[in-house]
Amino acid sequence: MKKILFGFVLIFLLIFTAACSETKPPSEPTTNQESSSTEQSAALSKENTSDTQTLAYNPPKMEDLEGKDDPISESIKRGYTYVNESYVTLDEYVGNNLSCTSCHAGAGVGEASSLVGVTAAFPEYNPRAGKVFTIEDRINGCFVRSMNGNMLPLDSQEMRDMVSYLTYISEGIPVRADIPWRKQNKMQVADLPKTDLANGEEIYKQSCIACHGADGEGIGANTGPAIWGEHSFNDGAGMARLSTATMFIQRNMPVGQEGSLTQQQAADVAAFILSQDRPKFPGRANDWPKGGAPKDSPYYNEIKSVIDGIGEK
Ligand code: HEC
Ligand code: HEC
Repeated sequence: MKKILFGFVLIFLLIFTAACSETKPPSEPTTNQESSSTEQSAALSKENTSDTQTLAYNPPKMEDLEGKDDPISESIKRGYTYVNESYVTLDEYVGNNLSCTSCHAGAGVGEASSLVGVTAAFPEYNPRAGKVFTIEDRINGCFVRSMNGNMLPLDSQEMRDMVSYLTYISEGIPVRADIPWRKQNKMQVADLPKTDLANGEEIYKQSCIACHGADGEGIGANTGPAIWGEHSFNDGAGMARLSTATMFIQRNMPVGQEGSLTQQQAADVAAFILSQDRPKFPGRANDWPKGGAPKDSPYYNEIKSVIDGIGEK
């Protein structure tokens, strides 16, 4: 009887250990395409938001702070100035002639690349850096790429003020809400049409030159920003990807006639603009450390993931 009992215990133990060994700890994802992280955040949003359809686009206005001089109102006001007149007010950190408004229209509350709700969306996994980004990391991403400059120290007053401002324009947006006006400049690289540079140049001369200049130098950071050349964004910027520039242009340009270009026309003129010289991003070798670099990254063939043979060829 003892032997039988011992047998049962042994069998039970064997089954138990086998079952346990099947429950492996969650492994690191092997692919980190942008799509998979987007799916993950979409899933997160659905779980945490009860009704995503009713998000209203109604950011608080700067006028509402007029006459207020408490510390947080003052911080928000300074933050607004840094976002709206970046290369003038933050010239120590900005390496070109742009302001955040040059791409995030109306200091982030306009139609083009709205930043309304952005502080409710971070922290977020960033596949290009291979790590989770806080809102400060993301702001600094635009400083070193879009602004061709240097990172703001995390404990600087300037960084605190920019976070104050972005949090102010995000008021009322629930944490992890599925924000319908967010990330509108994305499209699948595979869906990009074949581009025609000569046609792109024609469109540029007809529809863009008045505000962005014959040499791409522009007429002003918030009226017609530098679009190529030494005063524009560098080749590590999101806007330097053909897919992002195409969608941005199709949705937001020419100012006053937004949405008038077909996707083919937007892609042609984007390709023409991106074929011109612009500053190089010094940190390129560290991008996409886990592979998965999109094929429309301008320096796709040079970056680490490809050098190491991890990325798609
Ligand atoms: C040359 C264009 C350009 C400039 C200038 C620029 N950005 Fe961006 N920024 C982008 C693009 C492109 C994205 C990607 C999201 C998108 O497509 O809307 C982005 C994304 C962001 C995000 C994350 C948005 C989100 O919903 O995930 C933040 C925050 C941000 N920028 C802040 C700034 C700040 C602050 C400045 C000024 C210091 C700035 N950006 C200047 C092009 C630009
Ligand atoms: C009436 C003036 C005007 C015209 C015409 C115009 N833009 Fe713009 N562009 C702007 C302004 C102003 C911004 C800043 C963002 C905003 O306010 O929407 C901008 C921003 C941009 C940016 C991002 C910032 C940068 O420096 O790269 C791109 C790219 C761009 N425009 C491309 C184009 C293209 C391509 C055309 C022609 C199809 C065009 N624009 C026509 C005024 C204009």
